[in-house]
Amino acid sequence: MPILKRLTRLYESRGIHISTGLNPCHFGNLPQVNFTWFIKDGESLTNGLGIAMQEIYFLECLFADRQPKNVFVIGNSAGWSSFALALINPAARVVAIDAGFDRNALEGLDFTNRVAAEEGLDLRAVQAVSPDGIAAVAGAQMTGPIDFAFIDGYHSVEQVVRDFTALRPHADPACIYLFHDVHEFKLQPGLEEIARLSSLRWQLLLGTPSGMAIVYDATLCPALADDIAPFCAHESALTLVEAEFWQCRHRRRRPTAAQTRHIWGTTWPRISPPGLALVWILTYHLPARRSAAWLSLSAVSPTIGFSTLPAFAKLMRTGAFAPGAAGPWRCAAAASPPRPL
Ligand SMILES: C[S@@+](CC[C@H](N)C(=O)[O-])C[C@H]1O[C@@H](n2cnc3c(N)ncnc32)[C@H](O)[C@@H]1O
Repeated sequence: MPILKRLTRLYESRGIHISTGLNPCHFGNLPQVNFTWFIKDGESLTNGLGIAMQEIYFLECLFADRQPKNVFVIGNSAGWSSFALALINPAARVVAIDAGFDRNALEGLDFTNRVAAEEGLDLRAVQAVSPDGIAAVAGAQMTGPIDFAFIDGYHSVEQVVRDFTALRPHADPACIYLFHDVHEFKLQPGLEEIARLSSLRWQLLLGTPSGMAIVYDATLCPALADDIAPFCAHESALTLVEAEFWQCRHRRRRPTAAQTRHIWGTTWPRISPPGLALVWILTYHLPARRSAAWLSLSAVSPTIGFSTLPAFAKLMRTGAFAPGAAGPWRCAAAASPPRPL
C-alpha cells in the first residue's frame, strides 16, 4: 500500500504544507523543486529539503520483498525520509541522527520524535554528528545490527567514506547502504573508494532525481540487482540521451524575424525595399515634378501706391505649388494675396 498519502498527512494535519515532485522544467530548471518542501505560514521551514517523491517510490520498490529490522538514517532534517522509512517498514526500529547545526534541524528532531510518538511509529531522532556520534547512538538505540542505512548528511566525497566506515562495524554483512545526492553532488569518487575498501558492489541510480547510489553485497543480496534495475539507466540509453542532449544544446536554429532584428541591433526597416522606394517617389519626386510645372506660370502682383502703376507692376515669380501635392504650408503661397517682390 503506497505511503505517500499518510506521509504528507503527518505534516499537513499539523499545519505544514508539502510540495514534492514538481517538474524542474516548469520552474526554470531549478533542480530543488523536485524535492520535498515544508511550508509553514508561507515560509520554507528548512533548506534541508526532503527526498523527492520518486525516491519515496524507489524505497517502496526496494522494500516490497524485504523487511529490515534496524534502519539507520544520517541526516534527519524535518524527518521526511525517516518517516517514510518508518511507514514503509512498520516492523523496523528506525533511528535517525542529525547534527542539528541550525535551529531548523533541531526543531526537526523535536518534531520527528513528537509525531512518531503521536502516530505510534518506532522511530527515534537523536542529535549526533557523523561519523563520531554513530557508535554511541547505534549502541544505545538499535535492537540489533543495522540492515539498512540511509546516508543523507554532509555531502562531500570524504564525508560519505567516513559515514560508511563509521556505520560498517554496527551493520549486518547483508546491510544495504543507500546514499542520497551522489550524482547531484558528484560523490562518485567516494563511492568508488567505499567499494575498494569493502569489496562491496556499488551502483548509481540515475532513475532517481538526486542520483542516489546503493552499496551492497551481491552474494548476500542476490535479488537486489533485479529490484533496482528499473532505476539504473541502461548504458546504451544513456549514450543516446546524452547525444540528444548535446545536439539540443548545439543545434543551429534558423533565427526568427524578431531575432534577426535583434541581431542587427535595429527594428528598421519595417517595410520591404520596393515599398520604401514607392513611398520615396510619392513623397518627394512627384511633388517636385508638379512644382516644376507650376513654376512656369506667373501671376500679376497687385500693389499699393506708385507700385500700382503698370511700370511698377511686377510679375510674381513665386512658384505656385499645387496645394494637394505641396503640403499646407506651401498652399499659403498660392492662396495668399499676391505681394510685391
Ligand atoms: C539534506 S538534509 C536531510 C534530508 C532528509 N534526509 C530528508 O529526506 O528529509 C541534510 C541534513 O544532514 C544534517 N547533517 C549535515 N552534516 C551532518 C553530520 N556530519 N552528521 C549528522 N547530520 C548532519 C543537516 O543538519 C541536515 O539536516
